[in-house]
Amino acid sequence: MNFAHEAVHQLFTGMSGKGKSTLVRSLVARDNARWKFAFETYKKEFPRFMNWPLCVDEPTLLRAVQAGQPSAFYSAPLFPGNRVEGFSFWIRWVYEVGKVLPGRKLVIIEEIEKTTTHRNSPVAPAFLEMLDEGRAAQFDVIMIAQRLSTVNEQIRSTLTEICTFQHIDPDQLDWLDRENFDRRAVTELERGEYIWRDREAGTQRTNARRHPQLHSAGKTNRSAAVKG
Ligand SMILES: Nc1ncnc2c1ncn2[C@@H]1O[C@H](COP(=O)(O)OP(=O)(O)O)[C@@H](O)[C@H]1O
Ligand SMILES: [Mg+2]
Repeated sequence: MNFAHEAVHQLFTGMSGKGKSTLVRSLVARDNARWKFAFETYKKEFPRFMNWPLCVDEPTLLRAVQAGQPSAFYSAPLFPGNRVEGFSFWIRWVYEVGKVLPGRKLVIIEEIEKTTTHRNSPVAPAFLEMLDEGRAAQFDVIMIAQRLSTVNEQIRSTLTEICTFQHIDPDQLDWLDRENFDRRAVTELERGEYIWRDREAGTQRTNARRHPQLHSAGKTNRSAAVKG
């Protein structure tokens, strides 16, 4: 075990079509983690765009690991109409297998808000353990959600970074506001643009052209964010 590793729990949010998955794929491609596991949607983007093997059950997952490959799991064939159960099965497998694999593991979860039935309903126990013990077992987690408001509370509380693309829905902006994002700047983001906050350090950065004051803004408190 490597206790020097600090677990990273990143959430990428934003409206549909704004560039979340595209950015995540480029980050994942550049990440030097020894092992990579993705929880897919019907879009199967890791297989399509990155040529990762598409896994639908335990044998296909195992085959990818034995070949030293990353894997993309799509749960619908084994758990039709039950994404919550499909996630529960997959995350338990990834946690149990990942714990005994040497090296850092990168776990990518699309539509994290759909892996629990409600914001306050129980989270898969293996996922909670992964989030709690990620540091010891070297699990980093990247999550994607269209709506921050429906991300489970127990999951949200462990986030170390939040990166938002454009949102215009007031309810979503309320949630981002609580996380010290500048409401107006979030509504004015264009496709491919984001504001990325480190929750622990309280720092943020952006690639948005319209809001140069947010570039490397450093520590911002709530009033500074509102003024900006
Ligand atoms: N930085 C960018 N600049 C221009 N187009 C982008 C950028 N990022 C993504 N796109 C395009 O926008 C569309 C939606 O991107 P995607 O990453 O699938 O969005 P999301 O996952 O937020 O729904 C895709 O066609 C993608 O090629
Ligand atoms: Mg997407």
